[in-house]
Amino acid sequence: QKRIFSGIQPTSIPHVGNYFGAVKSWVDLQNDQKENIILSIVDLHSITVPQNPARLQQQIEESLICLIASGIDPNRTVLFQQSKVNGHASLSWILGCLCTIPQLEHLPQWKEKSELVKESRLGIFTYPVLQAADILLYKATHVPVGEDQVKHIELTRHLAKAFNRTYLNIFPSPQTILGKHKRIKSLRNPANKMSKSEADSKGKIDICDSAEEIVQKVKKAVTDSNSAITYDPIERPGISNLIEIMSAVTDTEPNRIVENSAGLDTVQFKSRVSEAVVEYFRPIRKRFIELREDRSYLHKVLKDGEEKAQKIADETMHEVRNAVGLNVY
Ligand code: TYM
Repeated sequence: QKRIFSGIQPTSIPHVGNYFGAVKSWVDLQNDQKENIILSIVDLHSITVPQNPARLQQQIEESLICLIASGIDPNRTVLFQQSKVNGHASLSWILGCLCTIPQLEHLPQWKEKSELVKESRLGIFTYPVLQAADILLYKATHVPVGEDQVKHIELTRHLAKAFNRTYLNIFPSPQTILGKHKRIKSLRNPANKMSKSEADSKGKIDICDSAEEIVQKVKKAVTDSNSAITYDPIERPGISNLIEIMSAVTDTEPNRIVENSAGLDTVQFKSRVSEAVVEYFRPIRKRFIELREDRSYLHKVLKDGEEKAQKIADETMHEVRNAVGLNVY
């Protein structure tokens, strides 16, 4: 049986990259295929970098609101907070005992992040093992994510295989599902992906940004000196990224966008893009504002999700403990 699992860090409101790279595909999978989907707000991952406790609490709620506002239906999809479910951290430890240091050292996110600080913390290093535990705890068969997570799912498959070989064959080998818009770039630095930790907040559009914020950010988006609208992600990453965003919000192929933009210059095209982005996210932003007021509903959603997730996690952990030899009575 197919089981889909994915996660999102509550480090800020999801941006357009998170939305088109992941959240939108979760909503589509939920709606089209009536799949069994489990989604986690991965708060334990977010504390691998310093967080303000009061702010983190708020961000967990805001992430939940964004997922529901985007179309995740808590009656059909299990939606829960990672740290509330027992099993993520303990399975992570057990998998960590099967994981080698070189397997983690070569991962691109570790390389990038460890270069930025003098003394890296352990959590950042072992982060992908916790991610593997998230996926395997639910015996997920499919993981819909953006391109930056592909290596982490690969590691998950290695660790599942290592566990199955060492102890008992209990874990499926999870497949990555990549969407059409798997890598939206930063508006300020189109060589890089759009990221929650952008140094310049104008590099990312959050899905609940106001119309004015969206217009300003698109206006300031870095493009090149050529004012023609052509799609060439390698040679012209800035304008191509705007075409990609336009393609996502209008569900139109990039080439068609280029055809429809004949004769426009960059300034005119940018104003079309921001208009389309504002329109696309208008209803989501509206639901976000409404839902924010209904805290008892939000807390009920988290509590229900936690119960459903815990039930599955308990079953897997029972099998895991048996397999490893940890169940004495
Ligand atoms: P996170 O919170 O950074 O991102 C959530 C999802 O958004 C995708 N994404 C993007 N897609 C396209 N363009 C972008 N610029 C862009 N930026 C982010 C990510 O690929 C991701 O799918 N480690 C994960 C969270 C996680 C997880 C898991 C995911 C923890 N455990 C288990 C899947 C399964 C992360 O940091 O995602």
